[in-house]
Formats: sequence, structure tokens, C-alpha cells
Amino acid sequence: MFKIAVLVSGGGSNLQSIIEKSKSGELACEVACVIGDRECYGVERAAEQGIVSCILDRKVFKKELCKEIDRVVSEKGVDLIVLAGFLSIIDEEFVEKWKGKIINIHPSLLPKFGGPGMYGIKVHEAVLAAGEKESGCTVHYVDSGVDSGEVIFQVKVPVLEGDTAEVLQKRILVEEHKLLPKSISKIISER
Ligand code: GRF
Repeated sequence: MFKIAVLVSGGGSNLQSIIEKSKSGELACEVACVIGDRECYGVERAAEQGIVSCILDRKVFKKELCKEIDRVVSEKGVDLIVLAGFLSIIDEEFVEKWKGKIINIHPSLLPKFGGPGMYGIKVHEAVLAAGEKESGCTVHYVDSGVDSGEVIFQVKVPVLEGDTAEVLQKRILVEEHKLLPKSISKIISER
């Protein structure tokens, strides 16, 4: 069975969609472990569902965080590392070791509205401030830059009259929950 590790920092709704689809058989993989870089609902969700999960506190591990993540995912023998709302920056050594085996989801049409400091609600605020007529989400491979790796899939979502950043965020999140599993499936089918 294809094994994945999911790394989270927040609510974990993308993680939830992966867990549900892997349990129903729609996604042919096993969530072998969930790692949080802080206490968060994502790690709780995983633990509630009996998935091996741990918190590697970014404030405790500091520069050693990626070494610790590497230790855990190597021990689990994972085939793919999925960043699903993971806020710590992955270092170059880790990216090099796991090249082609790390993906990330970002809530915009990259390369637009990506890069350092562009995360969470800030992305949607920037989209609205720029007067964009459409936004969306992107799943991409992780390289040594921020939000810069090869795109796997992207989906467009309209920006509607009167949208607040929160409303737009929710509309995009619905699509993220489909796009991330679809991207994982594509990678599984290519292996
Ligand atoms: C998503 O919008 C994702 O694109 C971004 O962080 C958010 C995570 O949401 N990288 P959740 O924790 O999966 O609910």
C-alpha cells in the first residue's frame, strides 16, 4: 500500500478529506502518520481516528525540525509527504533528500499570490485588494523555494461581487478538498 505522511499546522480540513477518501477506498493509500509543528486541531483529528500522529514543536526543535520530520517519515517508510496547511519552512537538505516526493497545497492560482508571508487569510485579502476576478488553488511539488515547485493541478474559483476574504477562503477550501486527493491519486497512478 502507498504510504503518505501529512504535515499540518492548523485545522486539518484537507487532512480530513484525505483520511475520509483513503478509508472509503477512493484514494488508494494509507495515511501512515500525521505530524504537526504545533498543537493544532489537525493532529487531534488524526489521533481521534487512530492514525499515528505526533507534534514536533517548531519552537523546541528550531533548526532541527526537518531532521526530526525526516526521522519520523523515514521510520514509517512513506512514499509521499503531503504539506496540508503546514506553516514551517522545509529546509534545502530535506527537500533534496525527498525530491519529487513532497507536495503542497496553496490557496491561490500560483505563481500569483504565493511566496514568503502569503498564507492563510492573507492570500485571499491580497486577491481581493488586487481586484482579481478569479482565484483558486494549486497543488505543486515542493522545491527549495516558497510555493515555487512544478504544478500538479490547479483549479479556478470565481471571485464574486461582495466577497469577503473569509467567504472566498471557504469557497476555495471546498475545491482544495477535491484537488489534493486528486493530485495524490495522480502520483500514485504514476508510480
Ligand atoms: C489551506 O487553505 C491550504 O491551501 C493552505 O492552508 C490551509 C489549510 O487548511 N496551505 P486546513 O488546515 O487543511 O483546514
